[in-house]
Amino acid sequence: MNEFSTFEMSKGLAIMTSGGDSAGMNPAVKYCVDYARKQGYSPYLVYDGLRGLIDDHIVEATRELTSGILHRGGTVLRSSRSKRFFELEYRQQAYDNLQRRSIGQLIVIGGDGSFSALNQFYNDFEVPFAGIPATIDNDIAGTDYCLGVDTALNMIRQSVDSIRDTATSFSRAFVIEVMGRHCGYLAMVSALSSGAEVCIIPELPYDLDSIGARLIDEKKNGRTYVLAIVAEGTRMSEHFTRWLSDTMKMDARLTVLGHVQRGGSPTVHDRIMAYKFSVAAIDSLKSGNTNAIMTFRDGSFGSVPIETVTSSKYRIDSDLLKLCEALSR
Ligand code: F6P
Repeated sequence: MNEFSTFEMSKGLAIMTSGGDSAGMNPAVKYCVDYARKQGYSPYLVYDGLRGLIDDHIVEATRELTSGILHRGGTVLRSSRSKRFFELEYRQQAYDNLQRRSIGQLIVIGGDGSFSALNQFYNDFEVPFAGIPATIDNDIAGTDYCLGVDTALNMIRQSVDSIRDTATSFSRAFVIEVMGRHCGYLAMVSALSSGAEVCIIPELPYDLDSIGARLIDEKKNGRTYVLAIVAEGTRMSEHFTRWLSDTMKMDARLTVLGHVQRGGSPTVHDRIMAYKFSVAAIDSLKSGNTNAIMTFRDGSFGSVPIETVTSSKYRIDSDLLKLCEALSR
């Protein structure tokens, strides 16, 4: 029996958020704590992500700490991206912090970078963990959904609707750059749900000549404004704005939505998904899984080993991708 078998029996379980924050993290923290308690665990909270694990920002999860947080955006546990965690010396420090409190299991709410870090920690010290996918980018392999995506899409929808008001009033072309890192999911769904004329994402080839011909034809037939959604991962926003202005002979403006997309009160969908992912994560640890990532795939919740997440690339919804093709040519 290694040292940690004793900890596992002690039922100390710590919950943390890590990497880029996203709406849905707070409800997940709350549901994890509540459900863990019901299952006989002693829940702890790690503040400041991996940095907090190293620097011992770990406290017992009192009811007070997790009440009134469900509706808030971001993460009340705060988050970080820690370079120190790559060094064994600091991971040892993190392990000692857990050991002192008899915390033998972890739940990490974050993206694949955070899962890999915790997997390294598992390989070093055999501390089992469960991962809950949370990132607005929706780019984690093995799951169709990550917490925060629906809230981000609604933030974008609100902004695009507002921009359309001014675009129509002033007969302008607008390029709206949305986040997503290398993934075009947010841009694709936003373009389709906002009725944008153009969508440029890393996953699809685009054809400027054919986009130009299409828009000029529409302009001849009465089009007075243009909305184009561009994924940040294409690095095309500025070029495309200039191109629109030159080709369409229209006043063109670029709006980079930026971090506004990461904030906001979690939508009903994100709250419910947070609930289900939390229950799945604790049940997964209870059933003896040591490093599984929770997934939502084809309408069902499940989990995959961390290796599945780290060794494969996310796949963007092919039906939506097909619909989007018409907007990139
Ligand atoms: O991963 C979430 C995300 O918001 C990406 O969409 C974006 O590219 C990145 O984080 C921005 O990172 P930072 O907040 O460090 O500027």
